[in-house]
Amino acid sequence: MDLLTTIAATRQYVAGVRHQGKSIGLVPTMGYLHKGHLTLARTAREQNDVVMMSIFVNPTQFGPGEDLDRYPRDLERDQELAAAAGVEAIFTPPVAEMYPRGYSTYVQVEGLTEVLCGASRPGHFRGVATVVSKLFNIVQPDRAYFGLKDYQQAVVIKRMVRDLNFPVDIITVPTVREPDGLALSSRNKYLSPAQRRSALALYRALNLGADLIRRGERRAKTVWEAMTREILSYPETRVDYVAVCDADTLEPLLEIKGRVLLALAVWVGNTRLIDNLTLEVKDHVARPDEE
Ligand code: PAF
Repeated sequence: MDLLTTIAATRQYVAGVRHQGKSIGLVPTMGYLHKGHLTLARTAREQNDVVMMSIFVNPTQFGPGEDLDRYPRDLERDQELAAAAGVEAIFTPPVAEMYPRGYSTYVQVEGLTEVLCGASRPGHFRGVATVVSKLFNIVQPDRAYFGLKDYQQAVVIKRMVRDLNFPVDIITVPTVREPDGLALSSRNKYLSPAQRRSALALYRALNLGADLIRRGERRAKTVWEAMTREILSYPETRVDYVAVCDADTLEPLLEIKGRVLLALAVWVGNTRLIDNLTLEVKDHVARPDEE
């Protein structure tokens, strides 16, 4: 396993791989790896000659008062897990390597970043798009892997890649869940045992919404109300947003039709969790997209 901390060393590593005519899959992460990240790495392993992972807690995607300083980190453990999943090299630069003094260039994807998480976390997707652009320029991967738990992030990155002509295929991978349905997230670590029980509200609300739609409900407001009520029935929960929207444009729906995204962000105590589910609504039959 190669541990790369500078852009120069990473470019050199990539040049060596390219010289051998090998393809590269990149798995961008902020570390504190869980099975979701490892599924991305294993998928990349199947589709590329060499798998590289970035581990970088990117300050530009955290707003003031968010959890940048306490975001969990454990590079030693991450290295072992990544190696076991087939990662050959980790790029883990210090902040000053990515954002040297005087840094002043940012990537802004308009429209798609102004709703859902973008509305509650202004500047978040500007930070994500910027760091992912930089990673693509540094590593120049053939393919890059993103989990669908961060559905909006995947949509934003696909749009950025299309608009800015990055020569990289974006591969999305379904959300990995705990046996009871909770989506894996590095932030689950913050939850107390009682909050961990309340965190199930997200998965339950999504399924409740999906069931209503499958049974024929087509009024987005009714689905939204039922999901919101469900979330608030759990202790220590606070709704950031519940959205019933078009899965491609992320625009809110009045009438449920086409490819539908149910997305939510919920505070459980001081921890903000997100989750989502997509469905295809064709006439009277609604099918879960991910199955
Ligand atoms: O999804 C994440 O972990 C981050 O947003 C990403 C894509 C690694 C950019 O910092």
